[in-house]
Amino acid sequence: MNNSHRPLDVIILAAGQGTRMRSALPKVLHPVGGRPMVAWAVKAAQELGARSVVVVTGHGAAQVEAALAGTGVTFARQARQQGTGDAFLSGAGALPSSGSASGSVQADDADILVLYGDTPLLRPSTLREMLTDHQARSSAFTILTGELPDATGYGRIIRDEAGNVTRIVEQKGATDAEKAVREFNSGVYVMDARAPQLARQIVPNSVTGEYYLTDLLALYHAAGAAAHAFKLADIDEVMGANDRTGLAEAEAILRRRINTGHMRAGVTLINPDTNTIEDTVTLGQDVTVEPGVILRGNTQVASGVTLGAYSVITDSVLESGVVIKAHSVLNGATVGAGSDVGPFARLRPGSVLGAGVHIGNFVETKNARLDAGVKAGHLAYLGDVTVGAETNIGAGTIIANFDGVNKHQTNVGAGVFIGSNSTLIAPRTVGDAAFIAAGSAIHDDIPEGALAIARGKQRNMEGWSRRYWGGMREKVSQKLPWLAAWLERQ
Ligand code: UD1
Ligand code: MG
Repeated sequence: MNNSHRPLDVIILAAGQGTRMRSALPKVLHPVGGRPMVAWAVKAAQELGARSVVVVTGHGAAQVEAALAGTGVTFARQARQQGTGDAFLSGAGALPSSGSASGSVQADDADILVLYGDTPLLRPSTLREMLTDHQARSSAFTILTGELPDATGYGRIIRDEAGNVTRIVEQKGATDAEKAVREFNSGVYVMDARAPQLARQIVPNSVTGEYYLTDLLALYHAAGAAAHAFKLADIDEVMGANDRTGLAEAEAILRRRINTGHMRAGVTLINPDTNTIEDTVTLGQDVTVEPGVILRGNTQVASGVTLGAYSVITDSVLESGVVIKAHSVLNGATVGAGSDVGPFARLRPGSVLGAGVHIGNFVETKNARLDAGVKAGHLAYLGDVTVGAETNIGAGTIIANFDGVNKHQTNVGAGVFIGSNSTLIAPRTVGDAAFIAAGSAIHDDIPEGALAIARGKQRNMEGWSRRYWGGMREKVSQKLPWLAAWLERQ
């Protein structure tokens, strides 16, 4: 929610190249916590209740715009990357107040928040505090700053004796005394509605030839306006990921933040450094997460669930008391209360398990509805199938759903017993309480209560082994001493 009284527009600078990533992917599209970095900035802007969000693109513009399509943001292309001042002006031209869209919109008194596309760790709550501070102090220009023992690389915040911010000095133009300043510019600002007009007066920097958005500070001062710094408590929030190690650090910070939140809310993470849990995932009380577990997307885990080591669970719903055993992979599955799954199980999209279902090792399900109490303990493929309550699916059962071109549906009733190593050639219907003899290839429907046997008949040929091995006694005695002795006794 936007708790300010003025509307808020947000400009996200995301046109820079980021050469240090050494990547074909634009820097701001590298993911942290399962989302492209720039998407975190968009999410924060939207959580603040921004009236409009403009993303300034340049390097890899088409890719960045495609990645953010459908999020409701507006794009402004910066033709050449001539510095943050130029990037800001490109973005400002796309704001509703600029009048550029229809030519008739009047400039209004919206505040403008500037964010970067490569600082994914900024908390919306911090930005909200900054906005509140900006308004409470009637500031025209508020700079988000932090303090580091060594702020090399950043613009430094220079204050006068009264503590007022007077200048921002970039690394390249800083004196030794200025380089010793620990307070740095994060690059995040809140500005009043005059900013675009003032930014047009920025001239190229004499050292680098770039347009510096930081020059806005002097321009506000010249206009007689008040500027302030808002100091961050946790400087991790403005940590920008410039290369792959920075990306991994950002990931680790975010992971700790999310995992700590879950632990405080009553979730046990046995070795939290090994767990990746996206911020979209919900976990109930007394969930236990074993080492190596990865939870992604819209996964919802109810209370009392155990997630076994190295399981990867995406977009799945786990009801209360479910036990997922080690090394299971779930994607788009629903698992009913009290069910157990794995180890080494794979539930693919459209798998819907009722209560108390048992899925054992090396069982794969896809588009499969298994009603309460179904058991598939070992080595099965269950695709495009419904299975009624209490049905037992023997080891090695295959639902052969694919004819080479099309998929076909199979429906198995309740209380059915499927013997081991059976194949049900789809489309098939198996009635309630039917039996399937082990090793059957079921190519006809089975009526309720019937036993289906679909396999060759067994024939025992007496004395066959003696004749077979007896024909090669010499080799048998060299290689199979037990069998050679047995032959001697015949
Ligand atoms: C900028 C600030 C510096 C601050 C630092 C914080 C200026 C002049 N300096 O420096 O005071 O300490 O950020 O990280 O603003 N971008 C564009 N188009 C451009 C140039 C940059 O979109 O033409 C974007 C980049 O993609 C990036 C952001 O603006 O997201 C910052 O650019 P960057 O080149 O990293 O600025 P710094 O030199 O680090
Ligand atoms: Mg930078």
